[in-house]
Amino acid sequence: MGELLEASAISVAAKTDLAFQKCISPACGATYGIEEVLVSCQACGNLLDVIYDWDRLRPPKSLSWFEGKWARRSDPLCHSGVWRFHELLPFAPPAQLVTIGEGQTLLQPSEGVARFVGSKPGRLFLQYEGMNPSGSFKDNGMSAAFTHARVVGASRAACASTGNTSASLAAYCSVTKLMKAVIFVGTGKISYGKLSQALDNGALTVQIAGDFDDAMARVKEVSQQLGIYLVNSVNPFRLEGQKTIMFRVLEALRWEVPDWIVVPGGNLGNSSAFGKAFAELREIGLIDRVPRLAVINAAGANTLHELYERRGLRWNQGSPDMQIADDYFDELDREHRRASTIASAIEINRPVNLTKCLRALACCDGVVREVNDQQIMDAKAQVGAGGLGCEPASAASVAGAKLLHDEGVIGPDERVVCILTGHQLKDPTATVAYHTTDQDKFNEILGSRGVKRAAYANRAVAVSNDLDEIVKAIQLYS
Ligand code: F0G
Repeated sequence: MGELLEASAISVAAKTDLAFQKCISPACGATYGIEEVLVSCQACGNLLDVIYDWDRLRPPKSLSWFEGKWARRSDPLCHSGVWRFHELLPFAPPAQLVTIGEGQTLLQPSEGVARFVGSKPGRLFLQYEGMNPSGSFKDNGMSAAFTHARVVGASRAACASTGNTSASLAAYCSVTKLMKAVIFVGTGKISYGKLSQALDNGALTVQIAGDFDDAMARVKEVSQQLGIYLVNSVNPFRLEGQKTIMFRVLEALRWEVPDWIVVPGGNLGNSSAFGKAFAELREIGLIDRVPRLAVINAAGANTLHELYERRGLRWNQGSPDMQIADDYFDELDREHRRASTIASAIEINRPVNLTKCLRALACCDGVVREVNDQQIMDAKAQVGAGGLGCEPASAASVAGAKLLHDEGVIGPDERVVCILTGHQLKDPTATVAYHTTDQDKFNEILGSRGVKRAAYANRAVAVSNDLDEIVKAIQLYS
């Protein structure tokens, strides 16, 4: 056996107190074994973390140690962009790890997007998580959740979803055959690209008459009642997998910490995972500073922005004043306000990871902004024109980076990484509507959401089926 595997065998916790679950509230701090299936603390109801005894686990002494795995990429666990960092999420032994090839993603510099955002050349990067097997960042977390599900011997898994979690769950079920998928989606709330994945991969698809917040509440009840393994990001193991997005960003930057990470915020799993990743890397001594974190809400689903930037809700060393949040949620109910944005993936008003995200914002000197659907669609068009493209929710990160540059919060020289969370083809309806010449189509899909113009549209050229006309059109437009 090679040196690397021996090292990882030493440093992996298998059903020992080297890794355990712990309530995130310092006032509670209740702990639970790895083998327990929980989505909240049984003592106080708060979220749970996976905690490691790093002193005894002895993780690598430098991040560049992980480069040794590149030479062994014929081993699926070294090839996986999640499990090649196994030593930084060592809650299960190598034999239990589940991979379908997730995390082969790319940090792409983009001069065009840099110009749009206000960054100097070479200072803006797009972390393209659309390259994952199911087309979104969710696969990072799903490989970890499936690993835990295998450890505990679960046979069915459920999630509520705005589309990508369900696509990911369905893919992991169809490829691994470890579990059967049950997915809950809001009626008419999920793009066809994502719904088609869940259907094609054979998931039992339950359409709830309601939105994501309704589906999330129901799936928690149903999975508890039927003993189904829940893979939403309230599952602390899922977030372990999502930490690796940050490890790969550092890897692509030759282990240098950027100045800013900008990420869309929906259920707030990613932002929470990123904060944990950096806090742990600093604790272990693998980095000496953390980047700043910017979480970007869609204006039509802006709970975090409202609570953090307007009402002053803070982590407050583990004692956030949750009355502020409860009052806000009561207000939403009283006024029958529902989340509404073209960025359907983040059309969420009750983010389940709110408190963990507050902790991440405290750790990473964070800021929160909201961007409207016009800003999102313009940013998306710029990402398409200057990069690999993305779905609307992902473009919130780029729109948010632009806003923060315009405000002077992010400087032109600072190194900024925007996370593109989902593939361009996840939601072609929004893209085609933006570029269309058909005003009715534009109004129906985008105008109804307050998008007034498509400043960066790339219009198709209509030409009669005539050789001369076609040649003329090409000469005119190229
Ligand atoms: N971007 C995309 C493409 C997403 O699918 C999601 C979440 C987010 C951003 C928000 O990430 O929840 O970590 O803040 N989609 C979930 C789903 C809710 O069901 O697929 P977050």
